[in-house]
Amino acid sequence: MTAAASGLEGVVVAETRLSHVDGKLGELVIAGHRLQRLAERATFADALALLVAGELPDIGQRQRIESWLLEGRILAHERRSATQGYPSAMDALRASVATLTETELGAEPLAQAARLAGAFAGFVASWARGPSLPAPERVPHAEDLLRRLNGRAVSSAEAAALNTYWVTVIDHGMNASTFTARVIASTGSDLVSAVTGAIGALKGPLHGGAPGPVLDMLDAVGSAERAPAYVAAELAAGRRIMGLGHRVYRVRDPRAEVLEGAVQKLGGSAVGRLALARAVEKEAERQLADRHPDRALRANVEFYTALLLEALGIDRALFSAIFACSRVGGWCAHVAEQRAFPRLIRPAARYVGPAPQD
Ligand SMILES: CC(C)(COP(=O)(O)OP(=O)(O)OC[C@H]1O[C@@H](n2cnc3c(N)ncnc32)[C@H](O)[C@@H]1OP(=O)(O)O)[C@@H](O)C(=O)NCCC(=O)NCCS
Repeated sequence: MTAAASGLEGVVVAETRLSHVDGKLGELVIAGHRLQRLAERATFADALALLVAGELPDIGQRQRIESWLLEGRILAHERRSATQGYPSAMDALRASVATLTETELGAEPLAQAARLAGAFAGFVASWARGPSLPAPERVPHAEDLLRRLNGRAVSSAEAAALNTYWVTVIDHGMNASTFTARVIASTGSDLVSAVTGAIGALKGPLHGGAPGPVLDMLDAVGSAERAPAYVAAELAAGRRIMGLGHRVYRVRDPRAEVLEGAVQKLGGSAVGRLALARAVEKEAERQLADRHPDRALRANVEFYTALLLEALGIDRALFSAIFACSRVGGWCAHVAEQRAFPRLIRPAARYVGPAPQD
């Protein structure tokens, strides 16, 4: 048997029509659409339809998806006590999503995915706001989540920024949580089990956990002129600069560019933070290029995710869970794809234990 590929880098485990990550060119294609173009014009509901049903929706279909998202938020609101008492938003999400059944999500794959995504957002808001959480309303999904989280009216620019974020992160090749969902689906298990397992994978700090630490870093740097000394000290201490580097991309992560643009569009106080972030990014890239001339270490999606979610008034403790509110769309689409070509995912391990003694 060949040597173990412990991180499965470069191992192709599925054929997918959902997304393609080109790490050399820095290109992300989502179901036939370049991310940059899709993020400009699609809402989360549109991206969900594209992934799960294979095409962008017309106006009527978009309204149906918004209704299913609302039904999911209502379902979560009725069950909001399931989120209380957990130490983190991801723990609360995992536990409360696990109370759902495939039957209550309905039979049609897009309706199921939308109700599930709606429930995710509802559960996250419940954990964050506890008993003071307002009830869901019939307004577009991103707007309703921001309204309920922040307890105030939401501008169309803020809702657009959250949509851009959710479209940008809805799917990204065979990442760890998506693979987890597909492994569970491959056993013939149900959708709720697949996404519950995927939440567990996403909870780990190596997958989607950097945006909070990016903000901690920006707080510690404080001002643009302090960036060179801060980066130098971190690297000298052997610490990693959060939000830089990627397993697949060897150029700047295309999602970073889209999210940077979305923060710029938001304007207001976000612009000052953006100037600081750009200074840190530039300095970190320069010093990392000196240290690793053969390995491009550039900004990844999480660098500007941090700025965007902060500008929307979202607490750092919710960042991974807000990410999950989008990625659940990708998980549902991958589960459907896995079910269409059912084959138990069951790789091998090389035994290195002791030989039998008898
Ligand atoms: C994303 C990440 C885990 C990719 O890791 P990877 O593909 O396994 O890359 P490696 O760990 O093999 O790193 C290669 C080299 O670059 C260095 N490196 C990678 N990212 C770095 C960073 N952000 N800051 C400083 N050095 C970094 C590593 O220390 C290693 O150096 P060495 O060869 O001297 O040991 C890594 O870049 C990282 O930890 N980034 C910071 C956390 C982050 O932003 N995560 C979100 C990812 S979307």
